[in-house]
Amino acid sequence: MRGPPACPIVTIDGPSGSGKGTISRALARKLGWHLLDSGALYRLVAIAGVDAGAAADDEGAHAALARRMDAVFSVAPDGSECVTLGGRDVTGRIRSEEAGQGASRVAAWPAVREALLARQRAFAAPPGLVADGRDMGTVVFPGAELKVFLTATPQERALRRHKQLKDKGSDVSLPALSREIAERDLRDQTREVAPLKAAPDAHLIDSTGLSVEAVVQRVLDLGAARSLWP
Ligand code: C5P
Repeated sequence: MRGPPACPIVTIDGPSGSGKGTISRALARKLGWHLLDSGALYRLVAIAGVDAGAAADDEGAHAALARRMDAVFSVAPDGSECVTLGGRDVTGRIRSEEAGQGASRVAAWPAVREALLARQRAFAAPPGLVADGRDMGTVVFPGAELKVFLTATPQERALRRHKQLKDKGSDVSLPALSREIAERDLRDQTREVAPLKAAPDAHLIDSTGLSVEAVVQRVLDLGAARSLWP
């Protein structure tokens, strides 16, 4: 559990392709708050493991990398995001389906999750934090002021991820992607530690057929009703 809240926290959890990343980013920008993209940390652990030549089933080695990896998130002057790992630019690599699959594997290990806890909580700083992931409202920030669980139909989620990857120049077939997303969902929902599930006090939002603006507005309305912002 974190100590007394240093700042207000909004958690946005949900499965792959539910729109968490886009909504969290838009919300953080609108509020001028910090953003924690926790999935990026798991993706970085997977990448660090490959680069260090760690055996794919070595939990301890990946946990050690999670603890000591030197990850820097920054925004370029043109507004684009940049991620470096040990000084090397991994911005493109981190968004690949391969990194997503690797992340889902290392994320099932308790030692890796434990190793990333303090790093994730350190993102909480005034004026506030929008935390995006799978267990933000259940494990990392159980005392968050506002918790949202975002869903969308599996078809819509696969289509969104397909478009995202295509826009980045990656040529993945839709059926293959749908299968990968289903596999990842199953692994995320059935793992023993911090499985993907809504916190009991989370607000469920089904984003199927809704625009980004409409979903952001719903979250803004929920926060305003709690006097988190005007
Ligand atoms: O959200 P993103 O697709 O970047 O997450 C990649 C993977 O990292 C997820 O499939 C999940 O297995 C894992 N993850 C997690 N807990 C989080 C964020 C991501 O287990 N808070």
